Amino acid sequence: MNPLLINQNNFSTIFWKILLSSRNGLEKKDLELLSAEILSLQSLRGQADYNTGTISPKSALWLYFLTRYFKPSTIAEVGTFIGTSGLSMVMGCDSNNLPVKFYSCDVSNSIDIPYKGKSTVEFFKKSDSTQMFKQLKDRGVSPEMFHIDGRLNQDDLPLLVDLKVMDAIILLDDFEGVEKGVVNAFALQGIINKTHVMAYPPKPEDCSFKDLDEMFPGTCTTAVLLPQKFLSLTRQ
Ligand SMILES: C[S@@+](CC[C@H](N)C(=O)[O-])C[C@H]1O[C@@H](n2cnc3c(N)ncnc32)[C@H](O)[C@@H]1O
Repeated sequence: MNPLLINQNNFSTIFWKILLSSRNGLEKKDLELLSAEILSLQSLRGQADYNTGTISPKSALWLYFLTRYFKPSTIAEVGTFIGTSGLSMVMGCDSNNLPVKFYSCDVSNSIDIPYKGKSTVEFFKKSDSTQMFKQLKDRGVSPEMFHIDGRLNQDDLPLLVDLKVMDAIILLDDFEGVEKGVVNAFALQGIINKTHVMAYPPKPEDCSFKDLDEMFPGTCTTAVLLPQKFLSLTRQ
């Protein structure tokens, strides 16, 4: 007898299809608000010491759906910049009326990210990931979700073990070619290769929301490392 084998490609297709269900219950105005918020963040570029790339509107939409679906209570992010990814994740949690504790660091920038909702946001300005992870460890914080949009340092790896990354959902931006998302996935291999399964970034043809393409253009380059313990078969 053979087991049913699900490879990463098949898993990825089904992962994003299931994630789409998190759109249920949302009204057009909720997504218009997300779109307006992330567009307004562009004006913060003027405060940047290191003016670099921000995530695409499509990635922002999927981060919103990801946090709305999984409902993390604590998120840690590497790479704040102008806060597009951070605000999208926080707004996804807020859309469930479940405030999140959100921590984000940026080694090169110290930009004030405006936020007025019910979640708690803390920005580690001009701090690298190692400094933030050390502080989170000292405070006994174990994030349930990580968003990595900078380059992980070697010194981060033992700290991530202390922060129980083996139990956390990890989102990797720029997962394409030899970009930093792929480099970060390699760096994490030794820690999470037995615990997590990867969903590649969503292929446009796998998830049809043509009605949102104009509001959220571009492609999503976010890969997801999901702890296998978060997988469950349901009857319906
Ligand atoms: C692509 S930008 C982040 C974009 C941001 N997530 C957004 O949506 O606007 C990458 C940022 O990560 C920062 N960075 C890179 N490696 C880092 C590290 N190890 N720790 C902290 N920040 C880091 C850089 O300074 C840069 O501002």
